[in-house]
Amino acid sequence: MSLLQKLVSMFLLFFLLLMCIIPSFFAFPPNPSATSFGAAKYVAAEGNKESEALLKWKASLDDNHSQSVLSSWVGSSPCRWLGITCDNSGRVADFSLPHFGLRGTIHSFSFSSFPNLLTLILWNNSLYGTIPSHISNLTKITQLDLSDNHFTGNIPLEIGSLQSLSNLDLSYNNLIGRIPFSIGNLRNLSLLYLWENKLSGSIPSSIGNMTMLTRLDLSTNNLSASVPREIGQLESLVGLSLSFNNLHGSLPPEMNNLTHLEILQLFTNNFTGHLPRDLCLGGLLVNFSAGYNHFSGPIPKSLRNCTSLFRFRLDWNQLTGNISEDFGLYPNLNYVDLSHNYLYGELTWKWGGFHNLASLKLSNNNISGEIPSELGKATGLQMIDLSSNLLKGTVPKELGQLKALYNLTLHNNYLFGVIPFEIQMLSQLRALNLASNNLGGSIPKKLGQCSNLLQLNLSHNKFIGSIPSEIGSLHFLGDLDLSGNLLAGEIPSQIGQLKQLETMNLSHNKLSGLIPTAFVDLVSLTAVDISYNELEGPIPKIKGFNEAPFEAFMNNSGLCGNASGLKPCTLLTSSSKVAKRKSNKIVILILVPLLGILLLLPIMVGCLYFPNRKRRERISCLGERQSPHGFVVCGHEEEILHEKIIQATNNFNFNNCIGKG
Ligand SMILES: *[C@@H]1O[C@H](CO)[C@@H](O)[C@H](O)[C@H]1NC(C)=O
Ligand SMILES: *[C@@H]1O[C@H](CO)[C@@H](O)[C@H](O)[C@H]1NC(C)=O
Ligand SMILES: *[C@@H]1O[C@H](CO)[C@@H](O)[C@H](O)[C@H]1NC(C)=O
Ligand SMILES: *[C@@H]1O[C@H](CO)[C@@H](O)[C@H](O)[C@H]1NC(C)=O
Ligand SMILES: *[C@@H]1O[C@H](CO)[C@@H](O)[C@H](O)[C@H]1NC(C)=O
Ligand SMILES: *[C@@H]1O[C@H](CO)[C@@H](O)[C@H](O)[C@H]1NC(C)=O
Ligand SMILES: *[C@@H]1O[C@H](CO)[C@@H](O)[C@H](O)[C@H]1NC(C)=O
Ligand SMILES: *[C@@H]1O[C@H](CO)[C@@H](O)[C@H](O)[C@H]1NC(C)=O
Ligand SMILES: *[C@@H]1O[C@H](CO)[C@@H](O)[C@H](O)[C@H]1NC(C)=O
Ligand SMILES: *[C@@H]1O[C@H](CO)[C@@H](O)[C@H](O)[C@H]1NC(C)=O
Ligand SMILES: *[C@@H]1O[C@H](CO)[C@@H](O)[C@H](O)[C@H]1NC(C)=O
Ligand SMILES: *[C@@H]1O[C@H](CO)[C@@H](O)[C@H](O)[C@H]1NC(C)=O
Repeated sequence: MSLLQKLVSMFLLFFLLLMCIIPSFFAFPPNPSATSFGAAKYVAAEGNKESEALLKWKASLDDNHSQSVLSSWVGSSPCRWLGITCDNSGRVADFSLPHFGLRGTIHSFSFSSFPNLLTLILWNNSLYGTIPSHISNLTKITQLDLSDNHFTGNIPLEIGSLQSLSNLDLSYNNLIGRIPFSIGNLRNLSLLYLWENKLSGSIPSSIGNMTMLTRLDLSTNNLSASVPREIGQLESLVGLSLSFNNLHGSLPPEMNNLTHLEILQLFTNNFTGHLPRDLCLGGLLVNFSAGYNHFSGPIPKSLRNCTSLFRFRLDWNQLTGNISEDFGLYPNLNYVDLSHNYLYGELTWKWGGFHNLASLKLSNNNISGEIPSELGKATGLQMIDLSSNLLKGTVPKELGQLKALYNLTLHNNYLFGVIPFEIQMLSQLRALNLASNNLGGSIPKKLGQCSNLLQLNLSHNKFIGSIPSEIGSLHFLGDLDLSGNLLAGEIPSQIGQLKQLETMNLSHNKLSGLIPTAFVDLVSLTAVDISYNELEGPIPKIKGFNEAPFEAFMNNSGLCGNASGLKPCTLLTSSSKVAKRKSNKIVILILVPLLGILLLLPIMVGCLYFPNRKRRERISCLGERQSPHGFVVCGHEEEILHEKIIQATNNFNFNNCIGKG
């Protein structure tokens, strides 16, 4: 390109730039939490005994709020009272008062007065005290839900006599002690939720007799010992969660009989041994997590054909095996985390076929080979973490096709080559970590177009050249680490525009000259390290610099200022030299454009005016418009959708992953 062409394109770029700066909006969608109330049916009332019993309980409730909630509870016809439904014979059949903030105990509730009661639903109130043993007098009850209250004490062993129960939910209370053995008598039980209590001891072997169970959630308790082999008899189980307990030992081989499982959560226990071999034999497994245990051996072979798999977490175990042999094709897979294991082998082209994959986390394994370029076809990807493996080869340019990519973490591998120019297309990128590889060349100016970056870590590579001033257009950047490279020249003053920057590490490079005066604008800075460079002159008078330890400044060419271990800036001795060099540069900077104006004026009369003050950086989407790929990423519509997905993913709650029945 001739100088003329360069200047013409510079003008065009500048004006297009002005037109292209579009503010970005972060949308946080409302979190819908809907609850429905069944319409009350009214049947002719009868039975003074029932109304008396209810009024007695009402009177026992503590506060005025509870009294006013139950203000319709007057007279002797309970069938019309709030929360009460009667059967055809006029007896109370359903008692449902969820979400009313009722405060008190159920000690004075005369259970034996309600021989026809089928459902008792009191979830999400402020009830406390123990669950009385005379609850066993509800001989016909099919649904008992006391969850999300403050009940304490043991689960009464008399609960075992409620043999008609199909749903029992005591979750989210403060129950202690063991799960009573008698619970095995509930042979019609379909749903048993005891999660989020303080239950201890072992899981009773009697659960094997509850063969109608479809959902069993014992998560977030203090259960210990190993899982009884009788669990294998629960062949109707669709959802099983044992997460967040102190369970240990190997899983019984009988668990292979649970072929109807759609959800299996074993997260955060002390399990050892192998994962059940036949887990997905039924082809129904959707969500499986066994993370944070001590499982060893291979990923079960049955998972190779598990096309139903949606979410899959085996992170923080001691699993071994060749990932290219053990991993199949999963058309529905959305989330996979196998990080912190001993997996080896290579990533194959197959990974490009995971069209629904949003998160791919394989960090801290022994995976070798190259990052397959086909990964660029998994266009749903939002997060890739392949850090701390043995990957070699280059960063494939095809990753630039992952428009939804939010976090690209590839540090601590053996990657070489340059950062592909296509990185600019990752307009959603928040985090880019390529640290501790063998990457080289210069840091691409195009990186400045990843305008949503919050974290940028390129440390410990072999990057040369100067720090591109375009980094200054990453307005949301909070963490910048370029340390341990071969970067030279002056620090661009545009870095001073990074008002959100909290940590900045430029140490162990060959940076020279003065620290730009614009750095006084780095108001958010809390941690800085510019040691082991050739910098000189005063440090900026801001908190981040003034409060940094001497180690942050050591081994430079003469820094001064108000920080520990630095000399105060009294004389201009060393900096005057730099200042002179700088003024030479300014002369050149002004002369060249002036020359340009003279050359161009005849051609461009009346069209444009040249901004001959400070040269503006190209922070726009122009690059894409000009690129052969023709991608345009100036818009931000996708971002809203993206935020929604990220929120949903982050809000994933392991405790209630089976869902409210
Ligand atoms: C409850 O209501 C009674 C009378 O309606 C009143 O005297 C009392 O102060 C109230 N208690 C509280 C805690 O508001
Ligand atoms: C629990 O009940 C309160 C009202 O007492 C309500 O505001 C809240 O949304 C309910 N929580 C759930 C999870 O339904
Ligand atoms: C109610 O249950 C208690 C405890 O299980 C029992 O002792 C009592 O006899 C029962 N009362 C009636 C009326 O059934
Ligand atoms: C258990 O369920 C079956 C089928 O729904 C029913 O016939 C039986 O009566 C129930 N048993 C009890 C004790 O309620
Ligand atoms: C299961 O039920 C059978 C038959 O009632 C009984 O013999 C057995 O002891 C029960 N097993 C457990 C573990 O409760
Ligand atoms: C959990 O159970 C163990 C015994 O298995 C006990 O020593 C420990 O105190 C319990 N922890 C809590 C928080 O209940
Ligand atoms: C599990 O299934 C096998 C057959 O596949 C059977 O032999 C075994 O008895 C079953 N175990 C249990 C606990 O049901
Ligand atoms: C779980 O295992 C870890 C490491 O083996 C151990 O430190 C911890 O005490 C164990 N916890 C229980 C409850 O067994
Ligand atoms: C699997 O997990 C996802 C994400 O948490 C959830 O939306 C989905 O409902 C779960 N699937 C089943 C079958 O529970
Ligand atoms: C997986 O499915 C293929 C054919 O669909 C079959 O040949 C193979 O045996 C299956 N593998 C396993 C481990 O189930
Ligand atoms: C992993 O398995 C593949 C396919 O069988 C094979 O080509 C490769 O050499 C294996 N990798 C290692 C590290 O064993
Ligand atoms: C990106 O992923 C890494 C590793 O999983 C994590 O440490 C980092 O916080 C993530 N960054 C953002 C902005 O989500």
